[in-house]
Amino acid sequence: MSRLLRIKPMSLLSKEAGEQGEHTLKRSLGALNLVTLGIGAIIGAGIFVLTGQAAALHAGPAVSLSFVLAGIVCAFAGLCYAEFASIIPIAGSAYTYGYATLGEFVAWIIGWDLVLEYAFGAATVASGWSGYFNGLLAQLHIYIPPQLTATPGTALVFYQNQWMARASLPSVDSLTGMPVVASALPHATGVFNLVAMLAILAITTILVIGIKESANFNSVIVLVKLTIVGIFIVLGGYFLFLHPSLAMHNWHPFIPPPDGHGNFGLNGIALGAASVFFAYIGFDAVSTAAQEAKNPQRDMPIGILGSLAVCTVLYILVSTILTGLKNYKELNVEAPVALGIKVTGIGWGEMLVSIGAVFGLATVMLVMLLGQSRVFFSMSKDGLLPKWASAIHPKFRTPWISTIAVGLVVAVMPALLPINRLAELVNIGTLLAFTIVCAGVWILRVRHPDLHRPFKTPLVPLVPILGIVTAVYLMTKLPLFPTWTAMIVWMLAGFVIYFGYSIKHSKVQKLPVDARGH
Ligand code: ALA
Repeated sequence: MSRLLRIKPMSLLSKEAGEQGEHTLKRSLGALNLVTLGIGAIIGAGIFVLTGQAAALHAGPAVSLSFVLAGIVCAFAGLCYAEFASIIPIAGSAYTYGYATLGEFVAWIIGWDLVLEYAFGAATVASGWSGYFNGLLAQLHIYIPPQLTATPGTALVFYQNQWMARASLPSVDSLTGMPVVASALPHATGVFNLVAMLAILAITTILVIGIKESANFNSVIVLVKLTIVGIFIVLGGYFLFLHPSLAMHNWHPFIPPPDGHGNFGLNGIALGAASVFFAYIGFDAVSTAAQEAKNPQRDMPIGILGSLAVCTVLYILVSTILTGLKNYKELNVEAPVALGIKVTGIGWGEMLVSIGAVFGLATVMLVMLLGQSRVFFSMSKDGLLPKWASAIHPKFRTPWISTIAVGLVVAVMPALLPINRLAELVNIGTLLAFTIVCAGVWILRVRHPDLHRPFKTPLVPLVPILGIVTAVYLMTKLPLFPTWTAMIVWMLAGFVIYFGYSIKHSKVQKLPVDARGH
């Protein structure tokens, strides 16, 4: 039992943080890079796709309150992440924090759990990305064989000049008002999502070439993404200002009455929050780049909390305007934001939003894949994973083998697996990591009260406790099947690897007794 609780000593962590030379990651990121890295990871499929579904199915116009609720959960966790990232500026994020505070076994659980967040997250976003990308190509009258654009077995129909999932076909044609008869439309069945796979492989290549190149690529795209979200807010907001009766009509009732199945009403807001929580995931990924930051003590908290604050404000504005432009009942579509801007009658709006989504989702995949390879890098450094996972490329100075391995596995996931419920799995995995990080901050305060903390989470233990309680509350809003079940199965697989390999190869287990943490 004591072996499972063995912790990685702070002295060793500080030493690793200070390492330099060609076998280490390159310290090249400043505060602004880190904020943009965070925004790059955060704004993605959540706001561009899930907002509409959450409004239509769970919360109605009050989806903006779902965003407030999910934002509060993230703020508690973000404050805890910021404290850790400033004390332990090492690449492994929550995994490393767990190792320093709660012991090797919990660290393993978090590291394994982060795969759900980062690798499965990147796969989920790749799938959404391919939908937007195909839509954009269709607007340009370019068509990829539909069989190569969707996961095996997805029923597709050709409607209004593009292939779409049969499941999202509207029942009534918005132009003619006539019923839409699916069986009368050209149809196909998905075989392999080649588009999503190529996207992941392209991003993997950029990540291998270099962190600075990746960060630069990210910064340019984040600007494009922010501009387009900004245009949506300004155009949509101005349109509602000119047509207040439309907004009043769509916002009324702001909290629709409960439907008897747990949706709408106050519970619907919580269900919506558990779903749109996906939109916030990514601010924590900033902390995986801690070993590549020039001045991590100062800049990590800025990167984490800055990106979270910017995105929270944008999300509340976008969701409020979106539900004002379009009635929430009509928002359960693949591209709700594009649908919303169409209402303003601005012809190029839809194309613009589609371009924003295509670029926007690309950076989310980039940061998620970056995070995943950095977590594996750290776990391998500690001996919990094989050595090749931390090999650094001599020229590019990136963990190239783990980046390529992660890229190959993730590329196959959205290509072959039906991943419509993956977002929920990603959410539960991330909420679990948040819970452990919040607990870790509190524990470290008790165990090492005098540690130098460049950033201090305010009001400890209140903030960590609120972080834990709110994260667990959102987890309880996720379904037992398949979400909870899949997470439990995943964790059991992780235990097999831990007891079969990691515990025997762990470097901390081999430290002399007096050098071990306790
Ligand atoms: N927050 C990221 C997104 O919404 C994961 O795509």
